[in-house]
Amino acid sequence: MSMAETSQAPLQIVAYCCHYCAYAAADLAGVLRVPYPAETKIVEIPCTGRLDMLEVLHAFEHGADGVMVAGCLEGDCHFQEGNLSARRRVARLKLMLTDIGLEADRIEMFNLSSAMGTKFAEMATLMSQRIVELGPSPLRSSNH
Ligand code: FES
Repeated sequence: MSMAETSQAPLQIVAYCCHYCAYAAADLAGVLRVPYPAETKIVEIPCTGRLDMLEVLHAFEHGADGVMVAGCLEGDCHFQEGNLSARRRVARLKLMLTDIGLEADRIEMFNLSSAMGTKFAEMATLMSQRIVELGPSPLRSSNH
């Protein structure tokens, strides 16, 4: 039984994953058959530096309960400082979420390498547990 099962629709976590690291790590987790929560919806982006804050807010508006942003290890971004820029955007998004009545913990930045398939699964599990504790996003019910 999935830990995200609730009386409502299953929880949704959108994971914006950098092509060079987190996306490859998620792929590796699949190859290694290391399970990670089924509610994790992977969205591949070229670099977390391309993270579109408006798109993240739209994801929440359209039913996401949580958002992971997963980029290369600090110092290893293929576009120099994209992941540092992403970390600052995630910090700003946390403030924006609080402003609209959502918990700042619904979004988090992670860093990993393409070889960290197991780590990806651990991060996704950690995020899922956090979202289960927070419960469904209040924006969900206001959309129905
Ligand atoms: Fe991976 Fe920039 S290329 S975070």
